[in-house]
Amino acid sequence: MKWNYTLMHKNIPVVDLKINLEGKITYLGEVYTPTHLPVGIKFAKGRVQRSSLNNWWLNRAIPASRSGIAHALESLNLPSTGALTEKSLGLSLSDQYWIRPIESSIRWEEVNFFDNSFSEDVGNILWMHKPSNGKFDLMSPDNTSDGWLRKKWIIIDGMRCLVKDSSGAARQEAYNEVLASRIMEHLGIPHVSYELLHQDGYAYCVCKDFITRDTELIPAWYVMQTQKKENHVSIYNHYLNCCEQLDIPNVRQAIDQMIVLDFLIVNEDRHQTNFGVVRDANTLEFLGPAPIFDSGTSLWFDKPTQMIGSMANVVCKPFKTSHEQQLGLVSSFDWVDFSKLDRIEDEWMEITEHSVSLDEVRRIAIAQALRQRILKLESLVKSSTSMKLSVDSNQDVLSDVKYSGS
Ligand SMILES: Nc1ncnc2c1ncn2[C@@H]1O[C@H](COP(=O)(O)OP(=O)(O)OP(=O)(O)O)[C@@H](O)[C@H]1O
Ligand SMILES: [Mg+2]
Repeated sequence: MKWNYTLMHKNIPVVDLKINLEGKITYLGEVYTPTHLPVGIKFAKGRVQRSSLNNWWLNRAIPASRSGIAHALESLNLPSTGALTEKSLGLSLSDQYWIRPIESSIRWEEVNFFDNSFSEDVGNILWMHKPSNGKFDLMSPDNTSDGWLRKKWIIIDGMRCLVKDSSGAARQEAYNEVLASRIMEHLGIPHVSYELLHQDGYAYCVCKDFITRDTELIPAWYVMQTQKKENHVSIYNHYLNCCEQLDIPNVRQAIDQMIVLDFLIVNEDRHQTNFGVVRDANTLEFLGPAPIFDSGTSLWFDKPTQMIGSMANVVCKPFKTSHEQQLGLVSSFDWVDFSKLDRIEDEWMEITEHSVSLDEVRRIAIAQALRQRILKLESLVKSSTSMKLSVDSNQDVLSDVKYSGS
């Protein structure tokens, strides 16, 4: 048979596909509902561009760079993470796409992970935990989770929650996520709230799924594929233009908030799949920017303690290569109430109090550096330099921050 699957959006057939043993889309068949194609997929003259859909599909798989994945694939005897995606029908807890075997008539209600429970075997094997009966159940939303940090979806009191690991000896990302949540709470920034979860002596962070059975996350990268970017248009303006064309409300304000947060915490990895928008998966109406998630790669998380506070070798994404330049894109700081952050260092010290991976010298250095960032922002907001920067959003974006696939 030529086609072996139909790409589905909930119960709506979108396009027939042939997926090969490595999990790649090798042929496309009939397009049933072009309006339900994933956002940003190239479609012209009745034809879907296969390479564009294939890239989207392959990016649904766990990235090959994921911590622990080589061992997991070996244990599962699978050739690639793409093959793993196929095993759970490509279902995700971040959107409503999936693949239905061509001869099957299963409905989305029977298989989706929002309403049906799922196996934790895939998540566990990334932590080297094998099921006690030696048999793996591969029906898991972990097969479609993005990002390089180890992570797994679990169900707590009926709620779908994502548990995320940290990296290196300091294992700082989990604490950073909790701190970023607190900063955003104080400043009134819509965000995903992260908490610490202790297991086997280590701290992880956990957050609730912000997507429901009726919504879906569209990463900024795909929003930006909806229009051709002219060379003279900055990434920032291109994103705003695409959002305007798609009628997505409140984007400028959300970007202002994200840039301010990332300046304060010196986030180094706000790439184009670490922010985005949410749409109604039934009506296809765009509801607005996604709440801010994944802010852990910040506060010198991977730098030695002596480097904390230094801006040398600090990376900035997605619009500019320095945090100070990026701040120049902010249209208004009127909403930033600095007094709400008066106690934030104390909160950091409380959050990290029982950490076995962050020693006191590092915790204090981070608290002090954070205060310096707040003071710096305050002085930039007051100074005319920042006012001058903020009118100049179109010309000085240096280059695109390339999608890293993670
Ligand atoms: N709370 C959530 N609800 C729904 N989807 C989520 C949630 N958190 C994360 N995701 C999805 O999972 C992906 C991976 O999560 P996250 O970005 O936190 O991981 P990461 O390993 O830190 O990523 P990176 O490689 O960018 O460092 C996100 O890009 C997003 O698509
Ligand atoms: Mg991420």
